[in-house]
Amino acid sequence: MPVRHFITLLDLSPDELQGLIRRAIELKTKHKAGELYQPLRGKILAMIFEKSSTRTRVSFEAGMTQLGGDALFLSPRDTQLGRGEPIEDTARVLSRMVDIIMIRTYEHEKLERFAENSQVPVINALTDRCHPCQLLADVQTYVEHRGDIRGKTVAWIGDGNNMCHSYIGAAKQFDFQLKIAAPKGYAPEADIVNCGGSHVEISHDPATAARGADLIVTDVWASMGQEEEQAARVKAFRDYQVDAKLMKLAAKDALFMHCLPAHRGEEVSAEVLDGPQSVVWDEAENRLHAQKALLEMLLT
Ligand code: CP
Ligand code: NVA
Repeated sequence: MPVRHFITLLDLSPDELQGLIRRAIELKTKHKAGELYQPLRGKILAMIFEKSSTRTRVSFEAGMTQLGGDALFLSPRDTQLGRGEPIEDTARVLSRMVDIIMIRTYEHEKLERFAENSQVPVINALTDRCHPCQLLADVQTYVEHRGDIRGKTVAWIGDGNNMCHSYIGAAKQFDFQLKIAAPKGYAPEADIVNCGGSHVEISHDPATAARGADLIVTDVWASMGQEEEQAARVKAFRDYQVDAKLMKLAAKDALFMHCLPAHRGEEVSAEVLDGPQSVVWDEAENRLHAQKALLEMLLT
């Protein structure tokens, strides 16, 4: 059987994704009850981080340990990757030593080349193109607070970035409607939008996207690697802050999500991020439970 990777949400079927969300909720319950569950004893996860991380690193490392396995943190600074060893060779070598590998990097195509040369499953822990692990946690969080996300309306306000791209994949796979509001010049990639088909609508008006939405989501205006564009982006995104006025246009029981880290006063007001509709801390916690379900699925 070919090795299964998790590079985008499209690598799993809608049924498998629904199963993962259910399993994440079960594993969370087990964990909260203090039940020891260690199906991954003896298994090793290698974690390659070419970009910074708090949530992804800790959730994968803690999750692997809770499941009975071990995790190795690998930074390019102290591996040969940082000195130019080809990604293909790194994949060949690492995958002879460990059972599963997760990577956070810049170019999506680099992750694809890594996966092509790996004998073990590879997980996308964020590239410039997408962040599928975050969407498992986001959908889990929605389901826990409001039930099935199928048929609901989600508003994406801001940059057409990696998170936005994964929201498009999620709209298709979990069958919800996604209304994107992005400034001109910052829309999501056309091929990804096309893949979302009738699940996706794009405008340049936050109010149009937010009106009646069941969930409002945003993300930073400048992603990792775009630090030099910060000033230009603050200007371009000025009218795209998720604030109380925008939240009022959404459904009465609408939730607010943000993958974090957040910048209060830029893409979201402090009032919304720290307010009653915000579920960002549950969302962050669910990275742990959702990725445990993913690791279990790929390894057992
Ligand atoms: N949301 C997220 O991926 O956070 P980190 O960058 O801290 O991993
Ligand atoms: N879009 C952000 C997400 C961080 C988790 C970035 O890529 O920096």
